[in-house]
Amino acid sequence: MEHLLAVLRAVAEPTRLRLVVLCARGELTVSELTQILGQSQPRVSRHLKLLCEAGLLDRFREGSWVFYRLRQSSPIGALARQLVAACSDADPTIALDLQRLGAIKRQRADVASAYFSENAAQWHRIRSLYVDEREVEAALVEIIAAADPRDLLDIGTGTGRMLEILAPRVEHALGIDQSREMLAVARVNLEHAGLENGLVRLGDMYQLALPDASFDAIVVHQVLHYADRPAAVITEAARVLRPGGILILVDFAPHALEFLRDEHAHRRLGFADGEVAEWCAAAGLDPAPPRHLRGDPLTVVIWTAQRRASPRVVEESEKRPVALLEGEVH
Ligand SMILES: C[S@@+](CC[C@H](N)C(=O)[O-])C[C@H]1O[C@@H](n2cnc3c(N)ncnc32)[C@H](O)[C@@H]1O
Repeated sequence: MEHLLAVLRAVAEPTRLRLVVLCARGELTVSELTQILGQSQPRVSRHLKLLCEAGLLDRFREGSWVFYRLRQSSPIGALARQLVAACSDADPTIALDLQRLGAIKRQRADVASAYFSENAAQWHRIRSLYVDEREVEAALVEIIAAADPRDLLDIGTGTGRMLEILAPRVEHALGIDQSREMLAVARVNLEHAGLENGLVRLGDMYQLALPDASFDAIVVHQVLHYADRPAAVITEAARVLRPGGILILVDFAPHALEFLRDEHAHRRLGFADGEVAEWCAAAGLDPAPPRHLRGDPLTVVIWTAQRRASPRVVEESEKRPVALLEGEVH
């Protein structure tokens, strides 16, 4: 009861209630919140700290930026959502806050789409080299429907496309990427798709800031060819998979398009089924027969593998601490 009273006290203040309402609408930085509220940054930060301590908001860092959002899955998070629902959008203060929030979101979307259009031409060229993406996506939806995971991790989420198509099929989904610009695009896309159970975070596929055995399904779609250590990516993904969980890798079959290396930073010109199966087995995963989607000139392959129930014994030389990067996220 003491805790609940502390939560209620935390929210029983006009600025803090406004902050809760705003953070229910997406992930916002202190400077965005400061802009909306028209109050000084130290003051806003102090209110945010109190709301985080009360368990109403979550705080996460992405490089030098700190984001705030409504606590996701907890009784206090549920209470926060009820409070937000009880606040009328027609209230003059809330209405003005939401209007300012809309302007900030439009500004963000413009920046993200400028980045995306700068890169879109080259992506379009690569896409034209392989099978229609809708075919790949339909196959992935089928795999996820059969596996029926509760949660999903998308490694190298980029613009968040995998989250868009797969998050509606799970309770919650997380995308990680090392590029802030990509994450900005992904956030806008998730927002447009109205996906409230999909989050994105800055992170490195070689050192995921996530606990062991914390996801039922992991997707690595068109990312592995950038990796200089693809086996290490698979080992790291396997660590984060729950026993019985499924890893889905999507990339190209071996090919000879050198320009992808020279002009598009691909380190690997595709992967042979045998090597992927070997990496999976070494990481404690049981590989299933891969699926080949033939295109001209590139063939897309979907490799799936299931995490064994009993973990493999890890050699001393492979052990390393799991780095938690700048708090809870990288
Ligand atoms: C071609 S995009 C694929 C994006 C997405 N999976 C899709 O298919 O739409 C590759 C993504 O991998 C990300 N990436 C590359 N190296 C990474 C790393 N070490 N850790 C996390 N993400 C990485 C890039 O930033 C980029 O967004």
